[in-house]
Amino acid sequence: MKKCTLGELFGQFYLQLKEKGIKHGGAYFFWKPLYIPVDPDIIKHILIRDFENFPNHGLYISEDDPLSGHIFNMENAKWRTLRAKIPPAFTSAKMRKMFLIMERMTKQFNKNLDVYAEGGIPIDIKMELSKFTTDIILACALGVESNTMKNENQEMLEHLRSFFDYQWNIYKNTMVVTIPRHILQKFKKDKQSCRGDITDILIRLTEKRENEHDFSGKGIMEPLNFGEFSAQMLVFMAAGFETSSSVLTFAMYELAKNIECLTKLRKEINSILDKHDNKITYDAVMEMKYLDQVVDETLRLYPVFPILPRVCVNDYNVPGTNFTIEKNTFVLVSNMGIQRDPEYFPNPDKFDPNQFSSENKSKRPFIAHLPFGEGSRICVGKAYS
Ligand code: HEM
Repeated sequence: MKKCTLGELFGQFYLQLKEKGIKHGGAYFFWKPLYIPVDPDIIKHILIRDFENFPNHGLYISEDDPLSGHIFNMENAKWRTLRAKIPPAFTSAKMRKMFLIMERMTKQFNKNLDVYAEGGIPIDIKMELSKFTTDIILACALGVESNTMKNENQEMLEHLRSFFDYQWNIYKNTMVVTIPRHILQKFKKDKQSCRGDITDILIRLTEKRENEHDFSGKGIMEPLNFGEFSAQMLVFMAAGFETSSSVLTFAMYELAKNIECLTKLRKEINSILDKHDNKITYDAVMEMKYLDQVVDETLRLYPVFPILPRVCVNDYNVPGTNFTIEKNTFVLVSNMGIQRDPEYFPNPDKFDPNQFSSENKSKRPFIAHLPFGEGSRICVGKAYS
C-alpha cells in the first residue's frame, strides 16, 4: 500500500522474528516464500562461508532486455568471470588518482554552495549532490568532464536519475543504451589513451583475446557484446552516483539536526587539515576517524540497499538447526533490520556516530553492520578499498 518501503517492511519482519527469540523465519512475497535469517552465524554462513549455495541475487535478467544483464543481476559462471576482471580498476594507485579528481570537483561544489550560503537561498541538497557525484563518477570511470555542476549536460543527468526515479520506465529509456557511444563521441575521448579505469577494462572485454580467461582460468572468456557492455556501464554509473549522493544527503540531514556531532566533525577535519598544509589529500582523509564513524552511522540508519537478496541453488541444511532451505528459495538478509536491532545498537533510531568507536564496534559481531553486503558479492565500490 506504499505505506513503507520494502526495506522497512523486511526490516520489521526481521525485528518481529528477533522479538520472538527465533533464529530464522519466513514470509510470503505475494506467492513466493522467502527465508529470513536472524541469527548472526546463519547470516555469516549464507553470505560468506557457504556462498556457493547462495551465489546469485535472483533479480530480473533477460536476453531480450540487454540492460538487465549487468553485473548486479548476472549469475553463476558468467558473473564470476566478469567479477574477477574488476579489481585492477580499483588498486590503491588508481584510488589516489581518483582522489585527485574528487578534490578538483569538491572545489567546484564549494563554489556552488557559496552562492546559496551567501544569498541565504534554500538548497535542494540532493540535486546538488547528484551533480557532484555524477561529475565525479563520469570523470573517474570514463575520463570525461560532464560539468553538470556548471549546469551543462542536464539532459544526461536527468536520464541517469531516471534509472532510479522512474524504475518502470526503464524499458523505454533508450538513453542508457547509448551512454558509452554518445558520451565518448560527445566528449571526444581519446581512444588511444589507456587509463586502466573500469571503462578500459570493459572495452578490452568486448574484444576476443586468447589470454582473457574465464573465472576457472582454463577456458577462454566469451567477449562482452554491445548490450552486455552497455549494461555494465549503466550499473557503474548508476551505482556510483546515486548511492554516494544519497548517503551524503542523509549525512548532511543528520548533521544539521545534531550540532554536537557537526562541531566534533568540523574540529577533527580542521585539526587534521592543519597538519597537512590545509590540503585535502588522500592521506589526510584516511586519518579522519570520526568522519568514518559519521559515514558508518549514516549507512547504518539509511542503508541505500536495505535488503541483500540471495537465491539458494541447492537444498541447504541450515547449520545448528534441523531445517532445510529448499533449492530455488529466495533468501533475504535484512541489513536494515539488523542495523536497527537493539541488541547490537542500543537506542537504534538515534543518530550516534559514537556507536562506531573502536570500543563499541568490538562489542558486537561485524555482521551487525552490512551496508555494502558481505562475502564474494560484496559491493564492488567497497571490496577493494
Ligand atoms: C555508499 C555507497 C554504496 C553503497 C552503500 C553500496 C551498497 C551495495 C550493496 C549493498 C551491494 C550488494 C552487495 C551484496 O549483495 O552483498 C552492492 C553491489 C554493487 N555495488 Fe555498491 N554501493 C555503493 C557504492 C558503489 C559504487 C561507488 C560503485 C561503483 C564503483 C558500486 C558498484 C556496485 C556493483 C557493481 C555491485 C554489484 C556487485 C556484484 O553483484 O558482484 N557501488 N553495493
